[in-house]
This record gives sequence, structure tokens and C-alpha cells, in this order.
Amino acid sequence: MTGADVRHRFPGVRDGWARFDGPAGTQMVDVAIRAASEWSASGNNANTHGAFAAANATDDLLERARGVVAQLLDADPQGVVFGANMTTLTFAFTRAVARTLQPGDRVVGTRLDHDANVSPWRIACEESGAEHVLAPFSTVDGRLDMDALAALITPNTKWVAVTGASNLIGTMPDVKAVVTLAHRVGARVFVDAVHLAPHMPVSVRDIGCDVLATSPYKWYGPHAGVLCVEPNLLNALPIAKVRPADDIGPRRFETGTPNFENIAATEAKRQQASAVLTVARREVERRVVSASRGYDSRLAELAHWRSDVVSQFESAAELADRHYRLGAVPATIYVELQKQYLDAVEAHLDTRREALAALLELEQATGLNLIRASSTQPARP
Ligand SMILES: Cc1ncc(COP(=O)(O)O)c(C=O)c1O
Repeated sequence: MTGADVRHRFPGVRDGWARFDGPAGTQMVDVAIRAASEWSASGNNANTHGAFAAANATDDLLERARGVVAQLLDADPQGVVFGANMTTLTFAFTRAVARTLQPGDRVVGTRLDHDANVSPWRIACEESGAEHVLAPFSTVDGRLDMDALAALITPNTKWVAVTGASNLIGTMPDVKAVVTLAHRVGARVFVDAVHLAPHMPVSVRDIGCDVLATSPYKWYGPHAGVLCVEPNLLNALPIAKVRPADDIGPRRFETGTPNFENIAATEAKRQQASAVLTVARREVERRVVSASRGYDSRLAELAHWRSDVVSQFESAAELADRHYRLGAVPATIYVELQKQYLDAVEAHLDTRREALAALLELEQATGLNLIRASSTQPARP
């Protein structure tokens, strides 16, 4: 399979441009787009658990989709929950957790996390009277301060909420070590893998966490969210649900009628696109990992970098540092990479040549047109 075989599977890049809009996620692969459309046209728009063919097809879809997502994340299909997005699922989850917390309990988060894994816990603590504390990260190398985190995980800690990878600066905490620290005092661990899953293989079993959250729109799928919850925990949590909803299993958590079109797209994307994605994923992962490793080790150097040409553009390290000092949670930054920017920062960034070489190689490997000299914004399809 060549790069050209991959490119035409992503209609969103048919205009020749590559999209570096990380917060917006990835372009959807064609089979996922088709699956959503085909499900909508299938006549199977029934609800679950009915005694007729369309309802059976809907039940089958959910079961298959849980299976393929469980395979992707090496998790138990009985704990795979679908929802609108990671943030909505996390709020629903922490609302249930709040009912199990009491004054004197503690929830530990991190300042490296996206606010979607901070505010839901903060609010759960406010409502239950529990204490919410955040571990810092190093402003020198961008890594989570594991010593500080370990000191915060006290015997009264009930939950630790940690990111698998920072969407702001890319550093990846050692989540397995966090799980060990938390489980030692009987606390449970919620891992936000929204930024991790597109870049690294994820194994819930290997990480050993109690909950892992991810969003298919970050890995070529539709706008949706996924929670992998340890099944006994899922069945025990006092989730807010209507009485007819299942008492056990993932459906007890999926309030109302799920977004079946996007679940069909999530399933199809994974099942049918794996061959197509192998080339792109392997290359992108290799690039992202090596780039982030290099980037990671150069954070201190980058902290001094400021482009006077693109004056509003701050380095991620500076931004993170500023947020940290302000006590605020990290924000997402958005960079659209264009050749003139690379040229403009050449004098300021020793690694420019390296970055450009990596992008050129990636272009060759994937057939994607990643860099294009232009002074105009790309036309949006
Ligand atoms: C690390 C991380 N966590 C959580 C989220 C929120 O995910 P969602 O948009 O599915 O709610 C994002 C979104 O960009 C993210 O990057």
C-alpha cells in the first residue's frame, strides 16, 4: 500500500491541504463517513431491546461496536460506554462519583490535564465536600511532577484523575506508576486518553486503570466519546438514570437513545479501515513520538524561543508556564503550520531544519501534502 492509497480515503484533505488543527481532531476516514450514512438509511433506526428486527440490529450494532472499541483499547467490552464526547461522559461519571464522596475524602488531579479532566472532578468535590488538589508539572521539562503527585496521594484519596498525554505540550505521564501509587491506598484512577490514543497504542489492561476516556473524532472517527469502565465499578456506581434503563452493563450509563449513526461509524472505521490506517498511523505515530521526544527534551530551549515575525505565537512551554503560575488549567493551543512560518522562525529555532525534514519525509510516506508555500489561508471545503 502506498501513501496515495491512504490520501484518497480522507475526503477532508481532498483540497491538497493538511490540517494541523489538533483540538478539532482528525479528518474522518471514508468508511466511517459511509457507515454513518448507511446506518441512517438502513431503516434500523429503532431503539434497543425491542422484539423486532430493527431493534435486534441496533442491539447487534452496539455489541459489535463495543467489541471493536474494546479490541482497540484492550479493554473489557462489558465496560465500553458510548456518549456524546469525553467531556460529557466525564461530567456524567463524576456526577455519580460525587454521590460516593464525603467530606474528608480527596480527589487528586494534575495541572497537566485538559480542563475536561479537571472541572468535572472539581465540581464533584464542591458538591460532596471532598477536597480537590492538583499536582504540578515541571516548567523546565514539561513532565508531571511524580514526587509531588505521590505526596498528594494520601490514604483518604478516593480518585486520581490523570492525563495519558498532555494535549498542550505532549508530555506523557507514567500512568502505570500513577495507578500503582493510587491503588496502594485504595484509590481509583481515571485516565484521560483523548490525546494519547491517536498517537500510541493503548492497553487498558496493561495500564491497570479503573476508567479510561477517549474520543473517536481524534482517531479518524466521528464526533463521539468512549469510556472504558471496569465493569464491577460501572455496575456499582450510583449513576443517574431513568428506571427502564438497564440496571447493569454499559446501557445503564448511556442515558436516552444513543447516537447510533456515530456508533456505526466508530465501529466501521475500526473494522474496515484498519488496513488503510496502518500506513498512516504507523508513520504518524513514528513521527509524533520522535518529534515529541525531541521536543520534550528541548522544552527548556524552546522556552526562550519567541518569533518576532509571528508575535502572537508563544511557545507551548511559555504558555504552559504562564498558565501554571496563574494557577489556571492548561488551555489548548492551535497552530496552523505553513511554510512561511517555518521560514520566519528559522533564525530563532535551531530545530527548524529537523522539523522540516521530518515533515517532508512524512509527506513522502503518506502522500499527504503537508507543507505548501502560500501567503493565503487554505480554502475550507
Ligand atoms: C486531552 C484532552 N482531553 C479531553 C478533551 C475533551 O474531549 P471531548 O472534545 O471529546 O470532550 C480534549 C479535547 O481536545 C483533549 O485534548
